[in-house]
Amino acid sequence: MEYFLGIDVGTTGCKIVLVDENGKLIGRAVEEYPLYTPRPNWAEQNPLDWWQGTLKAMEKVLRSSEIDPQKIAGIGLTGQMHGSVFLDAHYEVLRPAILWCDQRTALECEEITRIVGEERIMAINCNPVLAGFTAPKIQWVKNNEPEIYQKIAKVLLPKDYIRFCLIGEFATDVSDASGTSLFDVPRRKWSEEIISALGYSLSWFAPSFESPEVTGYVRPEIGKKFGFREKVVVVAGGGDNAAGAIGTGIVKPGLVSASLGTSGVVFAFSEEVKVDERGRVHTFCHAVPGKWHVMGVMLSAGGSLRWFRDALGSEEKEVAMLLGKDPYELLSQEAEKALPGAEGLIFLPYLTGERTPHADPYARGVFFGLTLKHRKNEMVRAVLEGVTLGMRDSFEIIRGMEIPIEEVRAIGGGARSGLWRKIQAAVYQVPLSLLLVDEGPAFGAALLAGVGNKAFSSVEDACRQAVKVTETVMPDGELVKEYERLYQIYRDLYPVLRPFYRRVAR
Ligand code: XUL
Repeated sequence: MEYFLGIDVGTTGCKIVLVDENGKLIGRAVEEYPLYTPRPNWAEQNPLDWWQGTLKAMEKVLRSSEIDPQKIAGIGLTGQMHGSVFLDAHYEVLRPAILWCDQRTALECEEITRIVGEERIMAINCNPVLAGFTAPKIQWVKNNEPEIYQKIAKVLLPKDYIRFCLIGEFATDVSDASGTSLFDVPRRKWSEEIISALGYSLSWFAPSFESPEVTGYVRPEIGKKFGFREKVVVVAGGGDNAAGAIGTGIVKPGLVSASLGTSGVVFAFSEEVKVDERGRVHTFCHAVPGKWHVMGVMLSAGGSLRWFRDALGSEEKEVAMLLGKDPYELLSQEAEKALPGAEGLIFLPYLTGERTPHADPYARGVFFGLTLKHRKNEMVRAVLEGVTLGMRDSFEIIRGMEIPIEEVRAIGGGARSGLWRKIQAAVYQVPLSLLLVDEGPAFGAALLAGVGNKAFSSVEDACRQAVKVTETVMPDGELVKEYERLYQIYRDLYPVLRPFYRRVAR
């Protein structure tokens, strides 16, 4: 039996999973590292912390799974998208990496759009330049830290820096490169036009590969440290959303995943390049060779519930501690006591601004419709419902692009609550499936390593063998009616509030 590792360089930590050659999950380990916010709305990490975290998580997963490291045949990489690692000519890190959730680059987004031209950007990269993406971060360094900009020899995405540490080569994959604003998404290659218009050098960017392609082999000194065989293959891998979609089997038309973690992501497979002309959802290359995906990203999904738990749920936290339970389970039970629609209370989940569908850093959260009758039960229920209605916005846009939606696979923390699953099926109006393994992007990256090593004949074959649906929740007719009514009100609230968000920010 051979084994494969999937490494996910996430925002809170590095997660590594181990699967066997049939795609069965054998082990997992997580190692956390810090996130720095030197100013409000800034988010940075030290790439060396990612590497130390990777080494520690590797030790943990090998120790706990007790398999012979000589049997590990391949590694797949995935990670947070869009982050920028700047290296000098000696390949030393020049400054902390600027992350996907950093909002400092509003001016640079406008500048890049002006220089390249909005139409060319949309035609080549298929997406507007957004604050979270990579190119505006390079432009920010150019404008604000010219002494560092002068020294740039490489700009890498987070997982590709870990690849460099692991194999000593520079490489990236088409799904992650799509989120840089510098990649030609239809042609699946770096855009010389955009890169040279901005005065950057093509040599800064790592050669791009399809996700299951082999990019090199683990360096001997690292291999020896872990007892690996010679020539452990490292495949290109994918951005965390594309790799996550391999782990959930979103590899054919009609399949969509709905992930409720800190952020909320609706991810749909597409045979061809399909673009929303208003740029409300992202169009990126998929980790399935020659395919694409469309994705809506909400910034505070599970994050809204976490805020509620921390701001108003101290009682639940205490009781949960005494009972040895999860406070989210108690909150979910409370929400179940409220009626669908929370007696007219509607929550807008824009606690950290919003990406899909509004692309508005000024948007803020709202409880709309509070009366004397409302208690905590209704408020928690409104949070669960409001976040789900926000996800529905992405479904509406994707449906409007004529991308088929036949089955939704629920993943992330939100899939663990029975009530939230029922709400999701009714709000999306599609059967909602649950999966046997919900290990996120690391699992998909390990499957990609299996494809690169020929344990599976294709990405689709890997998903057929490894991804199993355990249960399907059908939309409840009464709930569908109630949530359809609520959604029509929900979607009308933001446009009215938009100017006030700006006034409050000032
Ligand atoms: C995708 C995005 C996030 C990060 C989080 O566009 O910004 O999902 O990839 O890791």
